[in-house]
Order: sequence, then C-alpha cells, then structure tokens
Amino acid sequence: MRKFQNRSKLSQYLSEQRTKVSSIGFVPTMGALHIGHLSLVSKALSENDFVVVSVFVNPTQFDNKDDLVKYPRTLEKDIRLLKTLSENRIAVYAPTVEDIYENKVVSKSFSFNGLEHQMEGAFRDGHFDGVGTIVKRLFEIVKPDTAYFGEKDFQQLQIIKKLVELYHLPVKVIGCPIHRAEDGLALSSRNTRLTEAHREVAPFIYKTLNTAKVMFGTKSAQKVTAWVEKQFKKQPLLKVEYFIIADIETLKPVKRKSTKKSYRAFIAVYAGDIRLIDNIALN
Ligand code: PAJ
Repeated sequence: MRKFQNRSKLSQYLSEQRTKVSSIGFVPTMGALHIGHLSLVSKALSENDFVVVSVFVNPTQFDNKDDLVKYPRTLEKDIRLLKTLSENRIAVYAPTVEDIYENKVVSKSFSFNGLEHQMEGAFRDGHFDGVGTIVKRLFEIVKPDTAYFGEKDFQQLQIIKKLVELYHLPVKVIGCPIHRAEDGLALSSRNTRLTEAHREVAPFIYKTLNTAKVMFGTKSAQKVTAWVEKQFKKQPLLKVEYFIIADIETLKPVKRKSTKKSYRAFIAVYAGDIRLIDNIALN
C-alpha cells in the first residue's frame, strides 16, 4: 500500500493510476480509524477500481483547541487496518499541515444556503468553513470520481453535497449508514477518550433516539423534544447541548409535520468533556 505525505507526489501517482483504472473513489478521514470508517472504504472499494483514503486532522474545523490537541493520532494502526481491506487498491494520503495550507492555516468563508447555521454550525463556530475548505482542497488534489461520507455526520454530508453543487465540482457524493457498537453507541474516534463510566452510560443516547422515533409517529416535534430533554435531566453523566428534529433538506427545526417531508432527529451530548453526536431517520 502506497502512503503519501506530499500532494504533488500523490497527484503524479494518481495520474499514472488513472491510465490503468476506470474510477477512483475517495474517503476523507481524520484517522483513528474504526469500523465505521472502514465500512466507507469497503463501499468505495466495491464501487471503484482504486481508492484514496486521506488521514488528516484538519486544524481549521476545530473550534476547541483542547479537542484538536487531544484528537487521537494513530497513523500506523490506521494503515494496518486499511491493509486488511486491500494491499494494492488503496493509497493513503496523510499530509502535513503545510502540505495542505502552506503557510496560512485559515479557512475560506462559505455559504451553504443556510445549512451551515443550523446545529453543529450554531454550536461550533467556523466548523463548516473549516470542513468546506479542507474537503474542497482534498477534492482538488485527489480528483476522485466518487467520494464517500457517513450519515453519522449527516449535516456535514448535506453540506458537502451543497459544496459540490455550488462549485460544480465533478465528484459524486455518496452517503453511508451509521455504524454502531453492539450496545448502540455510534462509533466515533472520540469514543476512545471516554471514561469507563461515560462509556457505560453513552448507549442511552441511541436508546433515547429510538424511543423519540416511535413517539414522533403520533406526537409533535415539540412534545418529543420536551420528553427527550426530560430524560437526559435524569442522567447526570450526560449533558445535552441540543436535540433537534429537523427537515433533512433544510436542516431547520420542524414546526409542523408534513407527510411529504423527511425528518431526522439530531443530538449533541457532552459525556464529561467529550462531545458526542448522533442522529436517526424518523420517517
Ligand atoms: P472523521 O470524523 O474521521 O470521519 C470521516 C468519515 O467517516 C466521515 O464521512 C464520517 O461521517 C464517517 N464516519 C465516522 N463515524 C462513522 C460511523 N460510526 N458510521 C459511519 N460513518 C462514520 O468527518 C470527518 O472526519 C472530517 O470532518 C472530514 C470530512 C475528514 C474533513 O476533515
């Protein structure tokens, strides 16, 4: 498996590959890979001749310096995991900050039709400018035919689709389902930083989302939201930052349900100082 730190060397290698293969898939990640990430890579391998996986902890999308410093970095292990999927159909791009940003580690400013103001955008200042900047840059370097993103970060997925539409980028964006631990906790690189007590209580998040889904069949979004907030008040180890039932197209909170629209429930929770997000399709 080839590993690149330098974008021009990667570009040169991919130009050669393109003469031999008919499609290149791309899975952007921040590393500390788990089965959720690997499921995206497997899908990409099943749909493309060759796959690029980027591993880059992107500084401009972190609003919290401590989270950036403590973000797990496990490149050697990541490469070992990727090798279990394919030895010769994957290339890893693990650039330095300089290779991506040169001497200016700043985001560009994006407008994604208001999608960027909801939920994660409202609570993580500048987050989607950082995500837009890095993903656009990576698309320009890798030039994939298809790119794979997880529904775990559903708002990010919708924003990347909008980025591609607004800038007419020649990339097809595919959304992939959320992978969970057996007890229901959505897999996340940050889970490894949970204390034992927080890890034990964390499946409560998905359990509550599932009950909210059942309730949404007969009750208003406002009633379901009030119920969810009340449940978390009984859980001293978990602190809800937001719980929102939103239209999947606009990501705006639903006021009155329509049978013609699709909705998801989105949640962000602090387990100690670790921030966890999850979501569930409601209809
Ligand atoms: P990261 O959090 O490493 O996630 C990389 C990709 O894996 C994202 O598309 C994310 O939605 C997906 N993913 C994470 N956990 C998942 C799970 N449990 N099930 C399914 N998919 C999952 O998201 C980012 O990195 C960054 O913002 C990035 C897009 C790489 C830009 O820096």
